[in-house]
Amino acid sequence: MKPVSLLQLSDCHLTPQAGELFRGVDPRHTLQAVVRHLRHSQRHFDLLLLSGDLVHHADAAVYRELLALLAPLELPIIWFAGNHDNVPAMQQAAPQLFAEVTPLQDWQLICLDSNHEPDGRGSGAVSPASLEGLALQLQATMDTPTLIALHHNPLPSGTDWQDQIMLSNADAFWAVIERAPQCKAVICGHLHQALSWQRQGVCVWSSPSTAAQFQPDTAVTLPAYRWYQLWPDGRIEAGCESVTLDNQDKDAL
Ligand SMILES: [Fe+2]
Repeated sequence: MKPVSLLQLSDCHLTPQAGELFRGVDPRHTLQAVVRHLRHSQRHFDLLLLSGDLVHHADAAVYRELLALLAPLELPIIWFAGNHDNVPAMQQAAPQLFAEVTPLQDWQLICLDSNHEPDGRGSGAVSPASLEGLALQLQATMDTPTLIALHHNPLPSGTDWQDQIMLSNADAFWAVIERAPQCKAVICGHLHQALSWQRQGVCVWSSPSTAAQFQPDTAVTLPAYRWYQLWPDGRIEAGCESVTLDNQDKDAL
């Protein structure tokens, strides 16, 4: 019995120009440090999920640069947009990386776009049409353990400014999830923090950023990533690794 191993990288925030900082760090160098760490870790992954805010208001060339930085991992990739992304540029760079439903052996991964009705400050929603599609997919796959992924956190983090820009229609989202007991977990980005919650038997995990974290009191302040193991019996395990920067990386910040 072997699990499916999923790697989640989030909120890379690659800036439009090389050398341009995001929140005081060079997001290219921190992402390269994450990739180096992963290559040296010998850990096996089956799939890389990129959960939004992959660039910071940049064009298709920067998405191609992101994919080139990730190429040494030699993993199939699925991505979706966050509130700082440019969806037409993502479509231009690699349209094949968008996937709504992905079978993962005994499991399925369902990716939702949560950038409907943005408020201009960072929040977003899952559109009514997407929620309807999600409900139909879940009704048709009641026996398939399911992992849901979206950019915006569907539960509050406890940080006021971030909770004002969480998933704005979280109640409607949870109303769908609660009718589908095969939904084992929900994962998100957006928070730049590694948090975990439980809601009525559903595990919820947020991913830290590969660039800068937002919460000073979290244990994760360095670039970091999440991993998941999806077991055939429906169990899911999650972990988070932070990446120590070597002197070469620190010099580059
Ligand atoms: Fe972000």
